[in-house]
Amino acid sequence: MDLPILKTLFDEEIDRRAVSALKTHAMVLGEGGENLFAAGVADMDFKAPPVVLEAMQKRLAHGVFGYETVPEGLLPALTAWLKTRHGWPVKKANILRAPNVLNILAIAASLFTGEDDGIIVQPPVFFDFYDIAKENNRTIVANPLILKDGGYTMDFDGLEKLAADPANRMIFLCNPHNPVGRVWTRDELQRLGDICARHNVLVVSDEIHGDITFKGHAYTPFAALGAEYADNAISCISPAKSFNIASCCSAFTIISNDARRKAFQVENSRLTVNKNNAFASVAMEAAYASGGSWLAAVLNYLEDNLALVRQRVKHIPGVELIEPEGTFLLWLDFRNLGLSPDDLTSFLRTKAQWAITRGPAFGTEGEGFARLNIACTKTRLASALDHLCDAIMKTDRIQQEKTS
Ligand SMILES: Cc1ncc(COP(=O)(O)O)c(C=O)c1O
Repeated sequence: MDLPILKTLFDEEIDRRAVSALKTHAMVLGEGGENLFAAGVADMDFKAPPVVLEAMQKRLAHGVFGYETVPEGLLPALTAWLKTRHGWPVKKANILRAPNVLNILAIAASLFTGEDDGIIVQPPVFFDFYDIAKENNRTIVANPLILKDGGYTMDFDGLEKLAADPANRMIFLCNPHNPVGRVWTRDELQRLGDICARHNVLVVSDEIHGDITFKGHAYTPFAALGAEYADNAISCISPAKSFNIASCCSAFTIISNDARRKAFQVENSRLTVNKNNAFASVAMEAAYASGGSWLAAVLNYLEDNLALVRQRVKHIPGVELIEPEGTFLLWLDFRNLGLSPDDLTSFLRTKAQWAITRGPAFGTEGEGFARLNIACTKTRLASALDHLCDAIMKTDRIQQEKTS
């Protein structure tokens, strides 16, 4: 499909409230939050690719929704996608279906670590990593990312120390990293993989954002680094973010190690999480088989939105953009406003009408920050940036700083 034509698809304002979307729900926005700029939950405000909608409509028209197995075309479409786009040859036999990515993390934690064992995370990081560890009675062990000169890197010395502790048996890797937008390089992943292999720490790599990278930054699947890395990995793959089908798709666990894959399969079976949803199957197959040009167009649109934020934030005092390499989630640094976490949330909500995700949700390292989702129409984003700018300019504190 033609890129310029597709780009206009994303300018359409679609009322998310017409369905029970989480992003615009009172559960997330709070009471009285109907008119806020809803940019928290990590999905896109855009319709799924036309090829996905057509496949689902065709499936609906068939009218019979009895039990189904995995359609023949699904795994070949997925493996072709991983090979051609990301240079990752994956054997079909190594792929297991899962309801969603968080379910994979939870099963991996419960199967391959014991009660109270440590799971290493690198905050600021996706909040559900904490919940999964806690709910499975595991201990979260933090190896915070290093923020220097406006960019985040991994603390390999810190990781080596934590990995050397036999109580720490697993790491939840976020590749690319929500919320700081890093697309980890091959070299970084290799260093992490070598440390983990040396100390028998299993790498559970959440790669749900893998397809969403900006020009000049290529996603490297952790397990694509080589057979020895794959052998120490549980990879989590999903088309949820890439094609905006989070509520009607499932995920894939890719495990090279035979014993671990077998154990995972047995657990999936014990929990009976091995059923197939007809709409998920056709949506995912269509997305992987024919959604490439739509993805290219949406990435283009996101890059334009990113450019808009970059341009505007430059002129808003007290706000810095942490330059992302991928994901549609931006990590904004508000520390120069000098507000406490609660005051910052309240300021953004009441003065700027922004409902975005609080930084401390990602760990204490997120204090003074907040996460903005830019997968919305340019018009809404521009208007939200106007509101933020007005709110900050009106703040006495900033006015004083500006005149001193
Ligand atoms: C890094 C990361 N992993 C997992 C998820 C959720 O995945 P799922 O809905 O497949 O459980 C999200 C959603 O925001 C995410 O950002």
